[in-house]
Amino acid sequence: MSHAHPHETSNEVLAPGQRLQESERKAFSPEAVAEIQAIMAQYPDKMAATLPALYIAQREFGFVSLAAMRAVADVIGIPEAHVFGVATFYTMYQKAPVGKFHFQVCTNISCALRGAAQLLEKVCERTGVTPGQGPSPDGMWSVEEVECLAGCGVAPCVQVNQDVYDELVDEDKLVEVMEACKRGDYRPWAH
Ligand code: FES
Repeated sequence: MSHAHPHETSNEVLAPGQRLQESERKAFSPEAVAEIQAIMAQYPDKMAATLPALYIAQREFGFVSLAAMRAVADVIGIPEAHVFGVATFYTMYQKAPVGKFHFQVCTNISCALRGAAQLLEKVCERTGVTPGQGPSPDGMWSVEEVECLAGCGVAPCVQVNQDVYDELVDEDKLVEVMEACKRGDYRPWAH
């Protein structure tokens, strides 16, 4: 009986213990290549460009897919194993597709003491998404339960894409944010 993982294919190189997902996109745009080369030029060791290049990959590919990691290794001229190691170590790189608006809800201790679990439940309810189960069918939302977002003193904290809401964010604030996302005029902290 076969127990193959849905994303597993026989000829893919996989990092240890990982089942890295593939993306439709396979290569960087010329603009992204130029951006990475400009970053490399700032450092004596080109490996230092790995982290920012992975962020560019996340932006261009939608998530850090296997192809994205290979593209980073290729543009910088470093071993794929190094890029796989870095990308799989840091949880802030998305290794699977996320929604257009990705909500990360911190449920670590300070946030937990200030209602993070209830907030996470509300975010899931309003987006119709289960944490870690991929984006909503319309591609708008995804939700992730995360550890500390470094705003413990003003918990609870929620991050929307790259923007951290760390000033006692509550359900009303998140509803405002989500309504702006739906209207297409979301701007961080503008609401
Ligand atoms: S515990 Fe949630 S931001 Fe630190």
